[in-house]
Amino acid sequence: MSQKKAILKLDDKEFVLDTLVGTEGERAVDVRTLRDTTGYITFDDGYANTGACESKVTFIDGEKGILRYRGYSIEELAEKSTFIETAYLLIYGELPTAEQLKSFKARILDNAQIHEGLRIAISGFPSTAHPMAVLSATLNTLGCYYPELGTNERAHDLAQLDEAATVLISKVRTLAALAHRAKEGQPSVFPKPGNDYCSNFLHLMFAQPHADHVVHPEVARALDLILLLHADHEQNCSTSTVRMVASGGANLFASVSAGVCALWGPLHGGANQAVIEMLEEIHKSGDDGSRFIEAAKQKGSGVRLMGFGHRVYKNYDPRAKIIKAQCDKVLKLLNVNDPLLAIAMRLEEAALNDPYFKQRNLYPNVDFYSGIILKAIGIPTEMFTVIFAIGRMPGWISHWKEIAESPKQKIHRPRQIYMGNTERAYVPMEKR
Ligand code: ACO
Repeated sequence: MSQKKAILKLDDKEFVLDTLVGTEGERAVDVRTLRDTTGYITFDDGYANTGACESKVTFIDGEKGILRYRGYSIEELAEKSTFIETAYLLIYGELPTAEQLKSFKARILDNAQIHEGLRIAISGFPSTAHPMAVLSATLNTLGCYYPELGTNERAHDLAQLDEAATVLISKVRTLAALAHRAKEGQPSVFPKPGNDYCSNFLHLMFAQPHADHVVHPEVARALDLILLLHADHEQNCSTSTVRMVASGGANLFASVSAGVCALWGPLHGGANQAVIEMLEEIHKSGDDGSRFIEAAKQKGSGVRLMGFGHRVYKNYDPRAKIIKAQCDKVLKLLNVNDPLLAIAMRLEEAALNDPYFKQRNLYPNVDFYSGIILKAIGIPTEMFTVIFAIGRMPGWISHWKEIAESPKQKIHRPRQIYMGNTERAYVPMEKR
């Protein structure tokens, strides 16, 4: 709480409101008592200017293009850390010691396999099933195999979090790969004990039953970087969903399963799939990107330049800069000459110099380039958002933990301004 007070004048009465200041200087007016004292609520459709919680996990300054996990800059983590080390940092708040990291990795490795019942469940989905639907359903089902880790009794579930977190971080990757194989009609393979996290995922995705899939270390590193860059992003749509579900006391498995559903939408995690589909459409139509840009600028056209714009970043998304450099490296390494990349470059240049995009501060976001890397390493388009979900898992776990550890945590329950009919009498069928 800060010393500063805000004064709200309504009619001829003044109301004093407390203010809060975060560790990075962000300021907020505390409106928690407003309805009781004035009868008013605050109105903020889409929560664009609402602080829904205090959090210690991630800091973003969208104007300056800053992103930090637990105080560490995304640039430094991308250069020096790995996805698994960063997952530990997000969940426990500190970088692990060598011993802690070794044990965390070992527990993730131990949990790589899934129960036979889940394998059968995955094979029962129709081939038309989107892997995000399969992932959400099977993450919730996974909890049924660990009833002691997800009881909906907060103190108990919190005490089991170390185990639940490693089960989820490890198995989300196995479930994702098996969802892909089932869709392709391919038999499942087993994880390889000697492989690191990403190499194992690529092995589970692409190996043949009696032939290992050889993974180039740079390809595994590129995937690791994509996961690290997606590991958390403070109060975004899916994380807020996880926190919302957790606030009602739901266990970690149920909460992250809801997070996957929220992530699926094309305005959120689904954007990486939508970017590639947009580039393919532009390529197929023989457009160099300029017609598409013009359509995206027309109000009511329903067209948006996917991979551009962000609710929080009004500057370059720092993750986009890192991933663009990695994208160049991977394409060179794999000797990929993708015409879609040339279109992406042209779109980026044109949009960055176009007054429409400049005035609205629309810059490329992380998804503009991640799809191109994923495509180059052979990941099918429908799996792009699934990769995002694998990356976001540690972030969701950290936020679930923050809710569960908060002694005064209330159920999340926004209010509304009702604009529907006022009271009216029921109309009998014959009079309608
Ligand atoms: N292409 C064209 N115009 C756009 C775009 C875009 N990608 N994004 C925003 N605008 C325009 C809007 O039409 C609006 O114009 P107006 O002021 O003339 O009405 C203005 O910019 C502000 O847009 P909003 O929709 O109000 O911004 P909001 O913060 O609600 O949306 C969002 C952010 C959803 C990310 C939006 O920019 C978008 O749809 N981008 C494309 C999808 C995408 O890439 N999503 C991934 C986000 S990153 C992530 O989730 C990992």
